Amino acid sequence: MRKMALLLVVMAALVLTVIYYPRYVEKPVKDGDGPLAVYISPRYTAPEFHSPLEWYQRYHKDALNRGDLIQSDCLYCHEPEKSCNNCHAYVGAAAIQP
Ligand code: HEC
Ligand code: HEC
Repeated sequence: MRKMALLLVVMAALVLTVIYYPRYVEKPVKDGDGPLAVYISPRYTAPEFHSPLEWYQRYHKDALNRGDLIQSDCLYCHEPEKSCNNCHAYVGAAAIQP
């Protein structure tokens, strides 16, 4: 009887693990799929100051804080909802208000 109960507990634990197993979390990837995908209209070419892109993903904040460029310059090509705030929500940075 006790063995049976134990078996049931183990089975329940297994089933719950399968149901609640952490899902794959999407990342904000350029031209990726899903709601976090970063999209910039293909009619714009990447400006030189973005290069290398990995560096810019990390340090664009400093360029803005230094005043090299202002936010409205960015929004000429970037739509905040599609290529700023989806990534900002993911990393926990403040949302860009147009
Ligand atoms: C002339 C158009 C243009 C302007 C102006 C512009 N961007 Fe971009 N940006 C792009 C393009 C195009 C890409 C994609 C580049 C690529 O795929 O190599 C991009 C990519 C990025 C990325 C990386 C996105 C990712 O998922 O890797 C960040 C961050 C970014 N831009 C921030 C900014 C900021 C901040 C400004 C203002 C200071 C700005 N951009 C101004 C066109 C622009
Ligand atoms: C690929 C991801 C990504 C994209 C796309 C992106 N950012 Fe950021 N942004 C970040 C990260 C990460 C930080 C925090 C950097 C840090 O604190 O060192 C940040 C911080 C900032 C900050 C400083 C705000 C704060 O809370 O510290 C500004 C301003 C900013 N981004 C502007 C923009 C603009 C404008 C765009 C769209 C043109 C944009 N970002 C697109 C990743 C991104």
